Amino acid sequence: MKNNQAIVITGANGNLASYFNHQALDKGYNLILFYHDNFDRIQLIIDQYASRIRVIKTDFARSRDLKSALDQVIEETGWQISALFHCSTARANDFQSLSDSDSDIWENIVDVNLKGTFRILQAVIPHFRKQNYGKIVLLGSNVTRIGLPRGSAYSASKAAIANISRSLAAEEGKYNIFINTISPGPIKIDDSHFSESYRKFREEYYLEKVKEIPLKRSASFEDVCGLAWFLISENNRYITGEEFFVTGGKL
Ligand SMILES: NC(=O)c1ccc[n+]([C@@H]2O[C@H](COP(=O)([O-])OP(=O)(O)OC[C@H]3O[C@@H](n4cnc5c(N)ncnc54)[C@H](OP(=O)(O)O)[C@@H]3O)[C@@H](O)[C@H]2O)c1
Repeated sequence: MKNNQAIVITGANGNLASYFNHQALDKGYNLILFYHDNFDRIQLIIDQYASRIRVIKTDFARSRDLKSALDQVIEETGWQISALFHCSTARANDFQSLSDSDSDIWENIVDVNLKGTFRILQAVIPHFRKQNYGKIVLLGSNVTRIGLPRGSAYSASKAAIANISRSLAAEEGKYNIFINTISPGPIKIDDSHFSESYRKFREEYYLEKVKEIPLKRSASFEDVCGLAWFLISENNRYITGEEFFVTGGKL
């Protein structure tokens, strides 16, 4: 791999992205990291790999002009973007039925997850078109096929993401741009920063879900990242527009 290759990662301080960041650095990639508020995990890798990392702070619900921020990084570094790994997500920490939902919270989830996906894709795709190459992995969730009671904004926006990848695969195939969605079931993550009620909800949800999973465990970061690495690799020459369920056999 040439040493000017970069991967754009969103939600870059999050659980899954942080795991992926380390793997990408080990493989020799440069990283362009979109983060929101929290920065602690990114700080750890910047301390070690400053010259190979650029960061862009953004709120996907609001920031419209991600493209100029990204263009600036590309111009300054001369990096070429080989892939986008889009992990950012908003969740409803107050888990409510749709009819009891606060409309600002509901809309913010849709804005971050759906409009944010639109915004990052609009920023990255011109680079991919110019190169006539690009691999994109979006993160859905198994809730795209089973729904999520008391999480309708999250499940609706995740289903929309999976459908964006189907549409884009058709639009961008002629530019050699591949786009797929990975939809994992529950992943064991560090949830210490969530509110107590949301942690309790997640714990009960996970315990219940694991009982239904044929492989009897939740997904690991490696289960998800391993698939992502295949999808963005040169070995993936013919798979685009798909949604992959990483659910241990649970339909
Ligand atoms: N964990 C699971 O069980 C699971 C299951 C299925 C699918 N997934 C999907 O996998 C992906 C990664 O999950 P994860 O558990 O690693 O998530 P996570 O740790 O919660 O990370 C989500 C990231 O999104 C960022 N974010 C939140 N609001 C944002 C905004 N307004 N603008 C920009 N960024 C924002 C967060 O930044 P701040 O912390 O700074 O707000 C955080 O870094 C997500 O797309 C998720 O939906 C996860």
